[in-house]
Amino acid sequence: MDASVVYADLNLARTQEPKQASPPAPPPDSCRCPRWHRLALKLGCVGLILLVLTVIGLGVLVGKVIQDNKTKATVEKCNVNVSESSTKATENSVQLTCSNDWLPHREKCIQFSQETGVWKEGLSNCTRKGATLLLIQDQEELRFVKNSIQERGHSFWIGLNYSLPNKNWRWINGSTLSSDVLKITGEPKINSCVVVSKDNLVSENCDSENKWICQKKLKRL
Ligand SMILES: *[C@@H]1O[C@H](CO)[C@@H](O)[C@H](O)[C@H]1NC(C)=O
Ligand SMILES: *[C@@H]1O[C@H](CO)[C@@H](O)[C@H](O)[C@H]1NC(C)=O
Ligand SMILES: *[C@@H]1O[C@H](CO)[C@@H](O)[C@H](O)[C@H]1NC(C)=O
Ligand SMILES: *[C@@H]1O[C@H](CO)[C@@H](O)[C@H](O)[C@H]1NC(C)=O
Repeated sequence: MDASVVYADLNLARTQEPKQASPPAPPPDSCRCPRWHRLALKLGCVGLILLVLTVIGLGVLVGKVIQDNKTKATVEKCNVNVSESSTKATENSVQLTCSNDWLPHREKCIQFSQETGVWKEGLSNCTRKGATLLLIQDQEELRFVKNSIQERGHSFWIGLNYSLPNKNWRWINGSTLSSDVLKITGEPKINSCVVVSKDNLVSENCDSENKWICQKKLKRL
């Protein structure tokens, strides 16, 4: 039904235009229906103009809304970033905290064992805890460890033993000990490992029984 009405309108509009363009020859019967016809045309034109204006207005509005949304989205993104970085910060602070029986020092957690064992037992026990035997970085760290031992009064294996290929002291991370950093009492010889006591670093037979010190590095993202 709608389709036929539209078709009729278009048809009339087309026949009307040439008549308006050529005013000198208006056939008499053309004035039979022009009044409502012209009115309809005018209304149609007004309607069309209104429609176009509405579309333009809507376009502008939609554009504005989109832009607003974009701004909002960026603001939200920023907020997300802020919250993200704050969660990261809390995660960091959690990771930067040593668990109960671990001692914080600089960027690691240190644990003194209660049990005793040969050097390799200490090594594997630390590994099982997701840690390694202690690696001593410098004099300051050695002092810290010695001070912590004082209250306990024992010798502890650290991650340093005699390496046959190099015939020298080697850390378990693969680095050779530079003798100007740490002084070890006793000769480097086969099957020797190093303990730390409150007084010094001593070379001992790896098969003797001692406590040990594990270390965990704190992760920083
Ligand atoms: C949000 O953070 C990501 C990385 O996490 C970055 O690429 C992006 O540029 C940041 N956005 C804003 C708005 O800061
Ligand atoms: C290794 O450590 C765990 C946890 O501290 C302990 O229960 C276990 O007895 C240790 N193993 C050895 C061989 O000392
Ligand atoms: C291994 O540990 C020692 C002692 O902490 C350190 O001086 C050295 O730089 C470390 N080497 C590597 C490759 O991490
Ligand atoms: C010394 O430590 C290395 C690992 O760093 C190990 O492979 C080697 O068996 C150890 N030597 C002794 C005598 O325990």
